[in-house]
Amino acid sequence: MREWIVAGNWKMHNTVAESIALAKAIKEGSTAIKNGEVIVAPTFTALFSVGEAIKGSKVLLAAQDMYYEDKGAFTGEISPGMLKDVGCTYVIIGHSERRKYFHEQNNDVNLKVKKALFAGLKPIMCVGETDEEREKGVTQDVVGRQIKEGLNGVEKIEDVVIAYEPVWAIGTGKVATPAQAQEVHAFIRGILKNLYGGSTADDVRILYGGSVTKDNIGDLIAMADIDGALVGGASLKADGFLGIINNISGKK
Ligand code: 13P
Repeated sequence: MREWIVAGNWKMHNTVAESIALAKAIKEGSTAIKNGEVIVAPTFTALFSVGEAIKGSKVLLAAQDMYYEDKGAFTGEISPGMLKDVGCTYVIIGHSERRKYFHEQNNDVNLKVKKALFAGLKPIMCVGETDEEREKGVTQDVVGRQIKEGLNGVEKIEDVVIAYEPVWAIGTGKVATPAQAQEVHAFIRGILKNLYGGSTADDVRILYGGSVTKDNIGDLIAMADIDGALVGGASLKADGFLGIINNISGKK
């Protein structure tokens, strides 16, 4: 049985003090929740303090990116060992903003996913098509390639989480319909079944991301292959984020 995940990607927001305050509010608001996983992904500068603030709680720590080398002359980069050192369990990899603004390719994503797993971090690997690609009818080609190339050489999928985030739905308020999202989630699970076998693929969590709020999560989570959400804007306020968690908890 797959356990749901609600992950907050705070992107480039919040000072250390603001991050700690938000983390504490999420920690307090999720004490009564028994199942599922709650994850927060602050900026690098706030990881350590947020890790301390959520210690002993249900909330787990994620980074928003990492590099695929252990150490060395890579100015500005962060290694998986450094993320583990500050208490990260998860790391987001291949977010569409990394792909768009920092030119990450499927091959970079693949190197990072493999390195994260090797280092004992659980990657949340992001995939998703642009508006233009959806209009051209190539959503499955694009997402299929992102999944296959991103997971190339990954033998064990158990610790990998996939996030389907259609680029046109991120930060736009234009959420995918539950049917649109389910169609792509089922397509992704189908690829995983081919690659890893049915029962293994059935255990992989596939999250939806893109304009998720407490008001639309209920219909999304009702879909068979949607196992949770990767949330941007609505994760920046404790009320909104906890509202999403409360609307999932107990439903999956
Ligand atoms: P929004 O929820 O702001 O659309 O962002 C989604 C996202 O990119 C999460 O990684």
